[in-house]
Amino acid sequence: DWTAEQFVEATVAQLQEKLGNDKVVLGLSGGVDSSVAAMLIHHAIGKNLYCIFVDNGLLRKDEFETVLDSYKHMGLNVKGVDAKEKFYAALEGLRDPELKRKAIGRTFIEVFDDEAHQIEDVKWLAQGTIYPDVIESLSVNGPSATIKSHHNVGGLPDFMKLQVVEPLNTLFKDEVRLVGRTLKIDETIIGRHPFPGPGLAIRILSDITPQKVHILQQVDHIFISSLKSAGLYDEVWQAGAILTPVQSVGVMGDERTYEHVVALRAVTSVDGMTADWCRLPYDFLADVSNEIINKVKGVNRVVYDISSKPPATIEWE
Ligand code: XMP
Repeated sequence: DWTAEQFVEATVAQLQEKLGNDKVVLGLSGGVDSSVAAMLIHHAIGKNLYCIFVDNGLLRKDEFETVLDSYKHMGLNVKGVDAKEKFYAALEGLRDPELKRKAIGRTFIEVFDDEAHQIEDVKWLAQGTIYPDVIESLSVNGPSATIKSHHNVGGLPDFMKLQVVEPLNTLFKDEVRLVGRTLKIDETIIGRHPFPGPGLAIRILSDITPQKVHILQQVDHIFISSLKSAGLYDEVWQAGAILTPVQSVGVMGDERTYEHVVALRAVTSVDGMTADWCRLPYDFLADVSNEIINKVKGVNRVVYDISSKPPATIEWE
């Protein structure tokens, strides 16, 4: 029978054997997978693991600073890179979801590459790829066409002749979490909802501007912290807010308003392949809606997404 303890013990030994004194570079995302992969490798080779955490300007409110801090507390050798402006520039004017994904993927590789080249004599690229990512990327060439191009897998520029190490590529998400707990990684990282690589860019329909990111970060923050304080966060597999390009009429005091509609999405799921919308309590939704409309300038209407996957996807783009 599989146990997390045995997995950690065996994998750390294998990694030591495989990596020896080589230097390894890894991109941290703030998510469960890359964090657990980093800690596993850190246990095996310590400071020879060089972690890079890129601020793409598309993360949740305060996420970059908070998570960078926890990584440092975990003892990881990590460098935070502020690349917000580069990502905003690459995304300027793009409306098509797949073009946005590609621009983000390309920019990430550029930034990551620049950083990796500053590490002398690095031999390996580590990734937090998990089993479902492997399956999903195989289907690119298989009978079922890819629905969305997930850029977690592959994407290594040819000129970076690094060998790839993916210690989690046989595990499902719940197993990754068990491994993370065995490694004593902070529960705020382990219990975290999945978050897409392209971040808020695929939750801002149409083009991205820093102003829209700012609006959505505030909305998302109200929703997620309300889920936490209501004790609902752990019952939800993934939650977030979507900034629609639709404006609607409202009334605020004596004033007519004409502002953005935001949608809230919360789903239950096992692996993200299928999902059902969460039956969140009406009173909870009412409070969240009021708080968003009262506090976030630029939003005057909140709707709740009641679609399941399939046929809808979890993300709107
Ligand atoms: P969908 O929207 O396809 O999402 O139902 C399923 C899961 O995948 C995440 N997702 C992504 N993750 N890059 C990622 O790293 C992407 O381009 C991407 N698109 C969707 C989504 O958040 C959900 O957890």
